[in-house]
Amino acid sequence: MATEAFAPAKINLTLHVTGQRQDGYHLLDSLVIFADLGDRLWLNPGTVMSLQVIGPFADGVPTDNRNLVWRAAEAVGWRGTIRLQKNLPHGAGIGGGSADAAALLRALHGDDATQGIGLQAALALGADVPVCLHAGPQRMQGIGEHLTRLCQAVPRLFAVLVNPGVHVPTPQVFKALTCRDNPEMTPMPDGPHRQSFMSWLADQRNDLQAAAITRAPVIKEVLAALTATRGCALARMSGSGATCFGLYNSRDLAAQATQDIAASNPGWWVRSVITCGRDNS
Ligand code: C5P
Repeated sequence: MATEAFAPAKINLTLHVTGQRQDGYHLLDSLVIFADLGDRLWLNPGTVMSLQVIGPFADGVPTDNRNLVWRAAEAVGWRGTIRLQKNLPHGAGIGGGSADAAALLRALHGDDATQGIGLQAALALGADVPVCLHAGPQRMQGIGEHLTRLCQAVPRLFAVLVNPGVHVPTPQVFKALTCRDNPEMTPMPDGPHRQSFMSWLADQRNDLQAAAITRAPVIKEVLAALTATRGCALARMSGSGATCFGLYNSRDLAAQATQDIAASNPGWWVRSVITCGRDNS
């Protein structure tokens, strides 16, 4: 029987760009969480590697060793048949191939996935792969290799994800930055108290947001549409875009916002999700 793996959407609640290394990679300080919506994989060990991609976002996804899932399997010496269901827009700031690769590694090595592949090998697949190996709230620093688990500090959140269907290549967004030396996140409040967490979060940033808007102005419209919905406590871009998220105090408010945004923007991908984190207290 096939082993099933879930690759949840990654959301950068914050993404501060704090510097740049000699090799061009940027130093980040990011609070990363995961949603209850994602891609799915089925793995069947065998002697030959093959990859079948299905699902609403299968178009244009490579089915050979250009796919990170394939490369992740090779990196740990696994061979067999992979069926990958793409339910999320890719190249969209919410994990994509990195989340898929991490899900495969997690399915093969469990919670020891980082040890199974080695941190540097995971990082070589993609800067977001290490954070996606443990699909829980984490602070991500360095270029993606310094990870701090924050299981206790982040409340469960009701979010709406919106992608307007434009693809903004990550290197282009980093290139469009006007400042690469921004302050880190301020200290997070202790405990998952929603109100103090939300007011702390409002003071943090995604430093790539303005840069991405210069490349894809529709992102500004997405943020405005989220902000205009009833009960939206915060709207921000995830990763290097173009997906943005809105945060709400209840599942009902998020569901209503999803319905309203989808009705006025039929070409956009709009989903309401619940994120990992502690129950409200
Ligand atoms: O590692 P990954 O292939 O996901 O990164 C894509 C691109 O994003 C890199 O080639 C680089 O231009 C940029 N990047 C960066 N700093 C990071 C992560 C990614 O400059 N920490």
